[in-house]
Amino acid sequence: MLRQTDALTTYLREYRETVHSHAHDLLGVFRATRALVGPQRVAYPGSFVHLTPSLVFPQVCYIDSVKGFGASMQCSDLKLWLEAHKEYTEPVSLSAIEAAYARIPPELLAGFGLMVSLNAGPVSQECKPFLALGGHLLANDGHYDAARAQLDTDYTLVAALNAGGAIETDEEGLRHYFVSSRGQSLTHEMLAENQRRPPSRARYKMARVADAFLFRFK
Ligand SMILES: C[S@@+](CC[C@H](N)C(=O)[O-])C[C@H]1O[C@@H](n2cnc3c(N)ncnc32)[C@H](O)[C@@H]1O
Repeated sequence: MLRQTDALTTYLREYRETVHSHAHDLLGVFRATRALVGPQRVAYPGSFVHLTPSLVFPQVCYIDSVKGFGASMQCSDLKLWLEAHKEYTEPVSLSAIEAAYARIPPELLAGFGLMVSLNAGPVSQECKPFLALGGHLLANDGHYDAARAQLDTDYTLVAALNAGGAIETDEEGLRHYFVSSRGQSLTHEMLAENQRRPPSRARYKMARVADAFLFRFK
C-alpha cells in the first residue's frame, strides 16, 4: 500500500539514497538503452515507483497493481522534480495505471517502442501486445524474465548492459550469455528448474551475467 503523496519520497529513499544506490537505480542502463534504440514511448509494467526511466525518456507509462499506486503518482512535486533532473529538452510526460498488467486490454496500451521488465514477473510474455513491432524489451533476470525472452523466438538479444556503463552488443560476445557455468545453453527445462528458486539459489547459474538485457521484438 502506497500513501497518496509519497511516490517521490519513496523513490528517492528506495532508489537514490539507500545502500542499493546506483546499481539499483539503473540510470546507466537506461542511458545506454536510449543511446542504442532511442524509443519514443516507454511502458514499464510492474514499475512500483522506479521513476528513473523518466529522467532519460520523455514519455513513460508506469503500471503497477499495488494499492494506492495511481494516487501516489499524481503528487505535484513528482513532476517538478523530474523536470528539474531530466536529461532531455521535451516536457516530462508521465502516466500511471493502477492495474494488474495482464488484465489491461491490449488495445488500450499498444505501440510502445520500449517495454521495461525489472523484477516484476513474466512481463515479456504477458505484456507482449503492448510492444510495437521492431520495438525493444529491456529486462533483467531478477524474476527470470530475461531468460524467458531469450527462449522466446519473438525476441532477439541485441545488448547486455551494466549499470556502470559497460555495453556488449557484439554478436559473438552476446553468445556467451545465457550459457551455464558448465557450458550448457539455456533451455526451457533449465528455466523451469531455476524458477523453483530465487536467482541466488538457481540450479543453473549463468557463466556471464549483466544488470539488464535488451531484446528486439520480432
Ligand atoms: C519487486 S517490485 C520491482 C519494482 C521495480 N520494477 C524494480 O525493479 O525496482 C515488483 C513490483 O511489480 C508489481 N507487480 C507484480 N506483478 C504485477 C502484475 N501482475 N501487475 C502489475 N504489477 C505487478 C508489484 O506490485 C511490485 O510493485
